[in-house]
Amino acid sequence: MLEGKRIVVGITGSIAAHKGADLVSKLTQAGAKVDVVLTESGARFVTPVALQGLSGRPVYTDVFAATGDLAISHVELGRRADAVVIAPASAATMARLAHGLADNLLCLTVLATEAPVLLAPAMDALMFENAATQANLAILRERGMTIIGPAEGRLASGMRGRGRMVEPEAIVGALRRLLGRSGDLAGRKVVVSAGGTQEPIDPVRYVGNYSSGKMGYAIAEAARDRGARVVLVSAPVALSTPYGVEKVPVTTAEEMRDAVVAACAGADVLIMAAAVADYRPAERAGQKIKRTKEGMTLDLVPTPDILAEVKGDLVRVGFAAESEDLMRNASEKMARKGLDLIVANDITAAGSGFGTDTNQVTIIDKSGAAETLPLLSKYEVACRLLDRVVPLLKRSS
Ligand code: C5P
Repeated sequence: MLEGKRIVVGITGSIAAHKGADLVSKLTQAGAKVDVVLTESGARFVTPVALQGLSGRPVYTDVFAATGDLAISHVELGRRADAVVIAPASAATMARLAHGLADNLLCLTVLATEAPVLLAPAMDALMFENAATQANLAILRERGMTIIGPAEGRLASGMRGRGRMVEPEAIVGALRRLLGRSGDLAGRKVVVSAGGTQEPIDPVRYVGNYSSGKMGYAIAEAARDRGARVVLVSAPVALSTPYGVEKVPVTTAEEMRDAVVAACAGADVLIMAAAVADYRPAERAGQKIKRTKEGMTLDLVPTPDILAEVKGDLVRVGFAAESEDLMRNASEKMARKGLDLIVANDITAAGSGFGTDTNQVTIIDKSGAAETLPLLSKYEVACRLLDRVVPLLKRSS
């Protein structure tokens, strides 16, 4: 998504400038061409040399030093940017932007751009709460700039409050959402389920499975990156919620059923990537079951088939994780559950299935045609899957 994109990253004077440097590194690693514009006070916190090392490109500080691409024209950086991110954005920079001052290269660049602008404010809570800062923020928001944060926490003053710059991961997420806002899923609602459900035995034990949730989370991110409004119904996982995705946490298959059915109202797509337990203990013991010398038998009863319970005019996609007879089992499941697509993966193959960052899948459609994809990252699998979903969208957006 960020490959080849021209992103201007502005870094202003704040102790959070090192997080701006981390953002430069993350965007560069994701394939973006990052032009860093450093303000004079920003340069007191992080050096042009460090930023040039991270971006592998010239770093700009001075309007009058006609170096790099600035030699073409003083508005060149803003003119050709796909997006401008200011992280950290100080109170002073926001005041300059709100009043259209072009007294440094960063503000000049923002004045001269038609690209979306994302601001990640960072300052002391007292400065952030000040009426002047709030009025400037309101102006910038009203003019279409996107503001992310600040977050609550410990501040440089030693106080706690709202003023910390949000983490670079969240800024990358917000940027991807911003760049994808007119993608082919814009105006669409996509519901994704992820993770393995946990079916309680007693207050400390459950029946579960090895699902990490990575495939479902990758689908949620990929759908967000194409402009969708995403609801992610997630069983417990050790992953952070992608920025801009609405997460509904659940534990059991029955909770997941209720959440998915509710989320599917008005949805265009349901992608069930969750590993839903097919059986749950018939009873949940009220107290912890004690160890005895005897063996014990757990009575299991079937859980609801979530896909079968979701009605309505939406594209329905299931996953089939199989350890044998992959294609036959997947095709049967597809017919039984009335799906538009099924993604079959052989969990016994290397680099595929539970917990890995890659997956090797076959996408089967209603006609029975099968497309076998190479081993790809889960995000790339998600993109290829959404490529197949888009032409099946039923309602006009
Ligand atoms: O568990 P199974 O392999 O049959 O799952 C196939 C598909 O059905 C998956 O997409 C899964 O999320 C979904 N499923 C469901 N309700 C269940 C079990 C599975 O919707 N109770």
